[in-house]
Amino acid sequence: MADKKNASPSGEGRLRHIAFIMDGNGRWAKKRGMPRTYGHAAGAKVFKKIVEYCGAIGIEAVTVYAFSTENWRRPKEEVDAILSLFTDYIGEAERSFRDKDIQLHFLGSKEVFPPELKARMERLEEVSKDRRLILNIAVNYGGRDDIVHAVNTLIAEGKRTITEEDITSRLYTKDSPAPDLIVRTGAEKRLSNFLLWEAAYAELYFTEVLWPDFDEKQVDLCVEEFYGRRRRYGAI
Ligand code: IPE
Ligand code: IPE
Ligand code: MG
Repeated sequence: MADKKNASPSGEGRLRHIAFIMDGNGRWAKKRGMPRTYGHAAGAKVFKKIVEYCGAIGIEAVTVYAFSTENWRRPKEEVDAILSLFTDYIGEAERSFRDKDIQLHFLGSKEVFPPELKARMERLEEVSKDRRLILNIAVNYGGRDDIVHAVNTLIAEGKRTITEEDITSRLYTKDSPAPDLIVRTGAEKRLSNFLLWEAAYAELYFTEVLWPDFDEKQVDLCVEEFYGRRRRYGAI
């Protein structure tokens, strides 16, 4: 059999799930002499644009890393600003998501959020569940935390031995296909605790572009790069 590259946007090996580590908001703001929170506000706008675009080009699932389990270490002011942008987004989703065909999932434990916000997040997940484009928003998310959470779920179910599939199907990402491509903006080359289990055979793409400067053309570059790669999954 020919050693085929990721064949085509419609065939086998197509790009179904793309995940973004939206990094570089703080540096983007600093370059403009503005507070870091200004960068987060700009980043939130870009996030909406990129999700729309991914839907338009036929991607099935988009995951975005919005706030990690480690980001609580930041100054309270910054944490509050990010969470307030997140709460605004929940409100927007409640108002305008009916005709968007987006299936929302929040990755990460919701227990840290006020009960009222947690209920709104769960309700959005419930009402959107049959829609086309899967949008996973990782907030209070950590890849290690997710694996521990999955294992604790299995223990609670009384399992004594487990399979890979047992873990995969209890992760926060259980409703999505495995990520095909993980994109990190902002020049760092690391996963920072993102999708540790799911990333096993994901293609990785790192760019120096800071998240607030990321746009549709940048997505096209990622897609093009993806279709030029060969995924061997350990075979030859
Ligand atoms: C990513 O941008 C957004 C979050 C982590 C919430 P940063 O805030 O990490 O921006 P830099 O990396 O400091 O520029
Ligand atoms: C990763 O970015 C987390 C998000 C983008 C939400 P960080 O800025 O927190 O990662 P590190 O600290 O550079 O590894
Ligand atoms: Mg960062």
